[in-house]
Amino acid sequence: MEPLALYIHWPFCLAKCPYCDFNSHVRERIDQHRFAAALRAELAWEAARLGRRPMASIFFGGGTPSLMDAQTVADLIEDARRLFDPLPDLEITLEANPTSVEAARLAAFRQAGVNRISLGVQSLKAESLTMLGRQHSADQAIAALERARKIFPRVSFDLIYARPGQSEAAWRAELRQALALASDHLSLYQLTIEPGTAFFTSHARGDIVLPDDDTAAALYDATAEEAGKFGLLPYEVSNYARPGSESRHNLAYWRYGDYAGIGPGAHGRVSVDGALLATRRHRAPEPWAERVERDGHGSTDEVPVASDERAREMLLMGLRLTEGIDEARFFTRTGIHLDAALDADILARALEADYLARDNGCLRATPEGRKRLDSLLGALVA
Ligand SMILES: C[S@@+](CC[C@H](N)C(=O)[O-])C[C@H]1O[C@@H](n2cnc3c(N)ncnc32)[C@H](O)[C@@H]1O
Ligand code: SF4
Repeated sequence: MEPLALYIHWPFCLAKCPYCDFNSHVRERIDQHRFAAALRAELAWEAARLGRRPMASIFFGGGTPSLMDAQTVADLIEDARRLFDPLPDLEITLEANPTSVEAARLAAFRQAGVNRISLGVQSLKAESLTMLGRQHSADQAIAALERARKIFPRVSFDLIYARPGQSEAAWRAELRQALALASDHLSLYQLTIEPGTAFFTSHARGDIVLPDDDTAAALYDATAEEAGKFGLLPYEVSNYARPGSESRHNLAYWRYGDYAGIGPGAHGRVSVDGALLATRRHRAPEPWAERVERDGHGSTDEVPVASDERAREMLLMGLRLTEGIDEARFFTRTGIHLDAALDADILARALEADYLARDNGCLRATPEGRKRLDSLLGALVA
């Protein structure tokens, strides 16, 4: 039985960041009690149909889960531990925003059982934090990081780079400052313009101009080089860790393992009675809660994922990883041989061009291949 990765979504934020298309909502008042009860109810419903199975990780994502009552986090962890069989080294991550209010609550999350924190720092530059619409200053982010490192055995933080007008020299300097504050893990994302966001409108108007492809590629190389000097190695396109400190939860997504998603808008891929089910919850928080109160769960449609779709999803996920895709596991998870899922001509050319490598029963994208992964995947996946 695949060990389970459990995702729990908290859909609220203090403000909506102009670049973000995650399922996050701003409310004047949040009925903490109602949403806590609904999350617990939906977790119990999901566990009842999944049955007791090994659980490798829990991830509280958002939105801004550091706005949850610590007691809710504690209750959900306790429920999950009781409903599943936690592995001895269960990883429990919570995403936190580094405002001073939330930093003050970190110890309570640790007490609730969280053992890994992921802080949304985004930038260490005042003008960039303003541009990104963040609710915290660079000093607050640094203070939150320092506090987190005293409290949690594992700490990660996120930065967004390839911002408008950012030079390679400026990014290297900012990244070096960040690396001096890092412990075992960093997520370093290039800014993307997502439909439906405020940045999408500004970008369409020409008010925001992203670095061109060559500059973005140079920034990507600079990122890997600087992180490498600190012993943080890229194990996924945007994720860097000391060996052994990779996020086990996110690895479950990229290795196409089983994951259950609880809360508004959460997705899951869970094996039930020999089929892999794609699960999805209602996105809007209040209607989701109403459904849970009425039916015990807020699921929308649930469909078994056909083998060719499993193959496509596993390729899109697995080639993001430095380790690549294990061919034997690919067959076990999809029922399709890796070669049958790929365009043979593009595969041959990508191997020849050194964008892909195939050895020891694995297919992986090389660093050059990972830089152009989207176009590579578009052509490769049959
Ligand atoms: C669920 S979000 C944020 C968690 C938390 N609420 C916060 O803001 O810190 C996870 C991460 O995705 C990244 N992200 C979101 N939208 C992005 C975008 N359009 N481009 C690049 N990175 C993005 C940010 O670094 C963010 O911290
Ligand atoms: S980046 Fe984080 S804080 Fe900002 S809107 Fe998205 S989820 Fe909320």
